[in-house]
Amino acid sequence: MGFNEDAIRALREALEISPENEPLRRHLAGALAGLGRFEEAELEYRQALNLSPLSTELKIELAKVYFQQGKLTQSLVIVEDVTSHPNPPGKAHVLHAHLLLRRGDVPNAVALYKLGVEIDPSAADQELSERLGIASQDRAGAVFEGRVRECWEEPSSASSAEVERPKATFRDVGGMEALKEEIAVKIIYPLQHPEVFQAYGKSVGGGILMYGPPGCGKTHLARATAGEIRAGFISVGINDVLEMWMGNSERNLHALFEQARDNKPCVLFFDEVDALGGRRSDMHGGAGRQLINQFLAEMDGVNCSNEGVLILAASNAPWHVDPAFRRPGRFDRILFVPPPDAPGRAAILRIHCAGKPAENLDFEHVAKKTDGFSGADLKAVVDMAVENKLRQAMRSGNIVLLATKDLAAAAQTLRPTTREWFSTARNYATYSNQGGLYDDVLKYLKIG
Ligand SMILES: Nc1ncnc2c1ncn2[C@@H]1O[C@H](COP(=O)(O)OP(=O)(O)OP(=O)(O)O)[C@@H](O)[C@H]1O
Ligand SMILES: [Mg+2]
Repeated sequence: MGFNEDAIRALREALEISPENEPLRRHLAGALAGLGRFEEAELEYRQALNLSPLSTELKIELAKVYFQQGKLTQSLVIVEDVTSHPNPPGKAHVLHAHLLLRRGDVPNAVALYKLGVEIDPSAADQELSERLGIASQDRAGAVFEGRVRECWEEPSSASSAEVERPKATFRDVGGMEALKEEIAVKIIYPLQHPEVFQAYGKSVGGGILMYGPPGCGKTHLARATAGEIRAGFISVGINDVLEMWMGNSERNLHALFEQARDNKPCVLFFDEVDALGGRRSDMHGGAGRQLINQFLAEMDGVNCSNEGVLILAASNAPWHVDPAFRRPGRFDRILFVPPPDAPGRAAILRIHCAGKPAENLDFEHVAKKTDGFSGADLKAVVDMAVENKLRQAMRSGNIVLLATKDLAAAAQTLRPTTREWFSTARNYATYSNQGGLYDDVLKYLKIG
């Protein structure tokens, strides 16, 4: 695009003068993305969206930079929002095709790519169409297959996932009391006292699926669960499994469960389970279906016992999770992880300020000013305040204590990152609330 550092600086300076200038901010974001600086571009697009929240164009651009950073779920959430409105632009379908290809859903990716290019020929993407085998489709089917395989073929390594021994425990998790309780009762207690369950003729098993906006502690809590009972912890990014050569996925999944069984007690954590649990009807590809069936069989412990294995999963898009996952003995507890309430926020701030040179901090005061902030947002507040103090300390040569007003000031400059998620979740909860699955989301939004 021909932008360079000077151009970026000039744009930033212009924006200092007129921060509300949305086209200018969009321009800067595009320039940053063009230079491969996707993280910065993401920030600018988000700010531009604050100025024009309904702009489809901006949403797609944001979804693209998410995609480019590998934040596939965030990207998908936006793309689905855009394509759920009438007459979405071709570009949105093409991006959707990219995302589906990442999941291994080639047939649907091909269909959406074609639709996108039909609507808007300028949305054509040479590389994607080659990867999808469309460019050579008039040749033998084998060529098509071959090409698609080629792009999936990578050495498989999932069979030896790392077993962590997390140090964090529930004490390092602020708030989330109800969830901790649920995890204690539903999976920790049965693990420690299987005999009690046997006495009542109840089988032990099943897992908990946590869902909610990004940054609210799902992964953090899963890791702390392992630390709490000194168990091993295996975290599986589902995309890791999927992005391997599809034909190997089932074997890798089995190897993962086996590894957890060999290391029991062990927490086996599936992050972003929506990608794997994609509704079977969406997954026309046979491989996708096989993978899901394999997952269900492993969860049911069909061939081997899952005793001593705690299964947790997290998702930003539970509406994509196959209903078969919700049967008893599988993910039969589906728990909403909301942004922390005020006492939760105070607790999280306290955790992240622990051990820092500080005055007597009034966490409740800062908590009041950070409604809607996720745990990750609150960590960012602390990081920012600390950085400012550090700069002061370097100038003065003395340690300067962190004060309540520093936290409050940092909070003022940051925006909560949970809102976007709720705008999608609201739709699913309102129009597709399967058996009250999302009642907690509605309650949180004070709807219904
Ligand atoms: N309850 C909490 N207590 C302490 N720290 C928290 C809490 N929630 C979030 N954090 C901080 O925010 C970071 C991000 O949280 P985490 O990765 O667990 O979010 P998540 O819900 O898994 O998000 P995503 O949906 O994007 O995966 C954590 O590493 C931790 O530093
Ligand atoms: Mg997470």
